[in-house]
Amino acid sequence: MTDLEGLRAVVTGGASGIGLATARTLAERGAAVAVLDLDPAGVPEPLLALTADVGDDASVRAAVDAAAERLGGIDILVNNAGIGAAGTVEDNDDEQWHRVLDVNVVGMVRTTRAALPHLRRSTHAAVVNTCSIAATAGLPQRALYSASKGAVLSLTLAMAADHVREGIRVNCVNPGTADTPWVSRLLDAAEDPRAERAALEGRQPLGRLVTAEEVAAAIAYLAGPAAASVTGTALAVDGGMQGLRLRPAAHS
Ligand SMILES: NC(=O)c1ccc[n+]([C@@H]2O[C@H](COP(=O)([O-])OP(=O)(O)OC[C@H]3O[C@@H](n4cnc5c(N)ncnc54)[C@H](O)[C@@H]3O)[C@@H](O)[C@H]2O)c1
Repeated sequence: MTDLEGLRAVVTGGASGIGLATARTLAERGAAVAVLDLDPAGVPEPLLALTADVGDDASVRAAVDAAAERLGGIDILVNNAGIGAAGTVEDNDDEQWHRVLDVNVVGMVRTTRAALPHLRRSTHAAVVNTCSIAATAGLPQRALYSASKGAVLSLTLAMAADHVREGIRVNCVNPGTADTPWVSRLLDAAEDPRAERAALEGRQPLGRLVTAEEVAAAIAYLAGPAAASVTGTALAVDGGMQGLRLRPAAHS
């Protein structure tokens, strides 16, 4: 597919997992792509690798402007960088709350704010935020992370309303548990990684983890011209986790 030919894209957190798969997919479909990441060292050609911390406004502005200059503008912004947190409301201190909300929510604000002047000059402007099943389903031990992704969902809708008349579409994807280095780290840290993986797989009606490429395909759809009438939407890529209520296998 070459539906993104001529478009210029910026992907935050694009050096790993969902972000890297997205950057690759956008490039395969014809876009010129810049990756903004804390550590973009391993980002392959033809992706443009730029160091940026979405937690730091000056760093974001410099990287977004550098991307716009090198690519000749910005049509697509994928706000994907994010960090995790485990625990109930009793388990994370104030500093962790501020840190995760700062990266996961304010990080998207910083990148979008910096990209808006460039997006306004585009005739195909789209923003896609990486949200999560944690925004729409109550998951155990994810109070802080879920609060951050709930904010991302609401922010997506508000941004979509604010910028629709400027011709800028804003949507998000809600992945279920995806097979990325992030989840590998979680499994490695579990007491019984195999049992933990089976529990995560079993939680999704399709019976397996989502792949980064499947999430990337959804992001590329929302970013591209095929989604020209789609704004203010959350697209679940979660193996049925949000929408389906199955009976136990023995009783189905
Ligand atoms: N993996 C999952 O199961 C899952 C499910 C739902 C949503 N998500 C969301 O998908 C996104 C990507 O997750 P992933 O699983 O691909 O993770 P990952 O850890 O594999 O990749 C995240 C990338 O973001 C970068 N990053 C982290 N903090 C940053 C910062 N301050 N500035 C710039 N870059 C930063 C990291 O360096 C890394 O390259 C996150 O927003 C996450 O919340 C993941």
